[in-house]
Amino acid sequence: MDKKKILVINGPNLNMLGQRDKNHYGTVTLGEICEMMRKEDYFDYVFFQSNHEGDIIDKIQHTSCDAIIINPGAYTHTSVAIHDALEIKKCEKVEVHLSDVDNRDDFRKINFVRDVCTHTVSGLKEYSYIEAIKYLKKVL
Ligand code: DQA
Repeated sequence: MDKKKILVINGPNLNMLGQRDKNHYGTVTLGEICEMMRKEDYFDYVFFQSNHEGDIIDKIQHTSCDAIIINPGAYTHTSVAIHDALEIKKCEKVEVHLSDVDNRDDFRKINFVRDVCTHTVSGLKEYSYIEAIKYLKKVL
């Protein structure tokens, strides 16, 4: 049987992992996270990173997939447009954060994506992405 396809989206500044605040985001690069995920080979992965809101929306709209794992980065706290794009998409959608985003600055408590995602994993640094895969393994 064909493997299910997971679209993995990373938003702004996540291409800078390894150089960002290590206390919140750990030390691994985004490339290393993708490698870790690929090893969980029950699924096929399409990896996409962009610093641009519209490009993220285009990817959500135009990629057929069985589930989405998304770390919208700072767009989590600002983007009605990404909220709306995710709302349209009828599949499992996992919101992921490396840091414990609910227990940081007050402005990070505003969250535009949570209510249109089916599950959230945060605060486990790179392992948040692995937990998201484990969740999808259970529900897909
Ligand atoms: C983040 C948390 C966001 O608040 C921040 O803007 C990011 C990364 C995380 O993975 O912890 O860029 O989404």
